Amino acid sequence: MTATLIDGKAFAGHVRAQVADHVARLKEEHGITPGLAVVLVGEDPASQVYVRSKGKQTVEVGMKSVEHKLDATTSEQDLLAVVEQLNNDPEIHGILVQLPLPAHLDEDLVINSIAPEKDVDGFHISNVGLLGTGQKSMVPCTPLGCLMMLRDYHGSLSGLDAVVIGRSNIVGKPMAQLLLGDSCTVTIAHSRTKDLAEVVRRADIVVAAVGRPEMVPGDWIKPGATVIDVGINRLDAPEKGEGKTRLVGDVDFHSCAAVAGAITPVPGGVGPMTIACLLANTVTACCRANGLAEPEGLTA
Ligand code: GUN
Repeated sequence: MTATLIDGKAFAGHVRAQVADHVARLKEEHGITPGLAVVLVGEDPASQVYVRSKGKQTVEVGMKSVEHKLDATTSEQDLLAVVEQLNNDPEIHGILVQLPLPAHLDEDLVINSIAPEKDVDGFHISNVGLLGTGQKSMVPCTPLGCLMMLRDYHGSLSGLDAVVIGRSNIVGKPMAQLLLGDSCTVTIAHSRTKDLAEVVRRADIVVAAVGRPEMVPGDWIKPGATVIDVGINRLDAPEKGEGKTRLVGDVDFHSCAAVAGAITPVPGGVGPMTIACLLANTVTACCRANGLAEPEGLTA
């Protein structure tokens, strides 16, 4: 391996420390405690793990954590009533409705019912439009975490060729907007892109967010490029014992690390940054709601 390892776990620790510092100051100087509400509908095991982790980290940085766990059969009307109550709660500054929702619920409708200024996921159409037009918005957590690591490693991103593989609303599209905002030349590639290997070979920055295990091989990477791996895929690992699994990203780590200038590992790369950025967004939302200065370095 020749690439520098970008340690997302350590970086996330720094972000959480900055958040905790700001939370302490908000309490001391203004008597305000930022509050984050997470709404979980149903019993999806992966979602339950995420929500537990979010609640724990929210409390660890000194914020108020509220969890609403609703039955899988909850009606849209009842879910919208919970969101409305949180929209009107002055002690709640951030609201996150865990996705995916059960199939009978309209995700777009529910997300767009969240007050945009409390939409710490940055998924509300108002925030998508604000980000797309370069205005102050709430920025989706995973792309924000990727941007923070890229800025930290490169300093300026201006003029660099960036290829984002994946066009999801949660990662690919907002990631492309953020890179454009930092003056990269941005290409969004996806499953239908012609000659993906050649497109990726042009990139100084590759962000892989396709959800396909180890899809990007090292011979697609320009020597010295920075590789940000957003993928979290679980593969069977019989060599570790029966029923065991291992986590892999969307890039083939070993071959890419032999060519890249810098790379994020899986696990321990982008993953830990997502919740850290959720906490950062909640502090940002709290500061904006109270007309106070936002913490520096924690927003786009
Ligand atoms: N499910 C998986 N990732 C996310 C996320 O970032 N936000 C929400 N709301 N749901 C998710």
